[in-house]
Amino acid sequence: MATSVATARPLAARTAAAVLIVVALVIALALGVYAKAHTPAGRPIFTLWFSGMLQLKVWFTTAAVALLIVQLTTALWMWGRLPGAGDVVPRWVAPTHRWSGAVAFALTVPVAVHCMWALGFGTQDARVVAHSVAGCAFYGAYGAKMLGLRMRGVPSWALPVMGGSVMAMLVTIWLTAALWFFTRSGLPLT
Ligand code: HEM
Repeated sequence: MATSVATARPLAARTAAAVLIVVALVIALALGVYAKAHTPAGRPIFTLWFSGMLQLKVWFTTAAVALLIVQLTTALWMWGRLPGAGDVVPRWVAPTHRWSGAVAFALTVPVAVHCMWALGFGTQDARVVAHSVAGCAFYGAYGAKMLGLRMRGVPSWALPVMGGSVMAMLVTIWLTAALWFFTRSGLPLT
């Protein structure tokens, strides 16, 4: 009996990891195909209080990246890896991680909708390709992470890897679009 449980666990863990990888790829590919196939509208849907679509996008993206600092700190704390924080994890850490992640994700949605609908999958140079790929991969990794949190049998390495991928993709998005914009246009506040 003990042997069959021992052999079943790694199998279940491998299946769960494979499911998460497939989910991430399907989401990323679906977004990429839509962005490439759809004719870019070339105009914003809304700009809120900003002077234009670009300004809205760079500031929403920057706010989402700033929340990554909260995400990283609280994630390291929950996993007992935050230097100097000790072993006791206060009760507010997990909800702070959850809510800062939800707000960061919500900030990316209007931006990505504008990117895909108004601009499409850009291929004009390596920076824009890297940005478009990272944009699609971000949602793939995010979807897999959300599913991984609710699935049974997920291997212990999967959540940090998926969480790290989500963060790495958002930082890539920021570097290839928002930072690039700021280096050219300065820091317009609206
Ligand atoms: C989390 C998701 C995303 C965020 C936060 C994001 C953010 C941004 C920002 C801040 C800009 C600069 C402003 C502008 O040029 O309009 C931008 C540009 C752009 N985005 Fe995204 N984006 C995301 C996803 C995507 C996706 C999925 C695609 C297409 C597959 C895409 C394609 C583009 C293109 C083509 C540009 C113009 C690049 C240029 O010519 O400089 N983005 N994005």
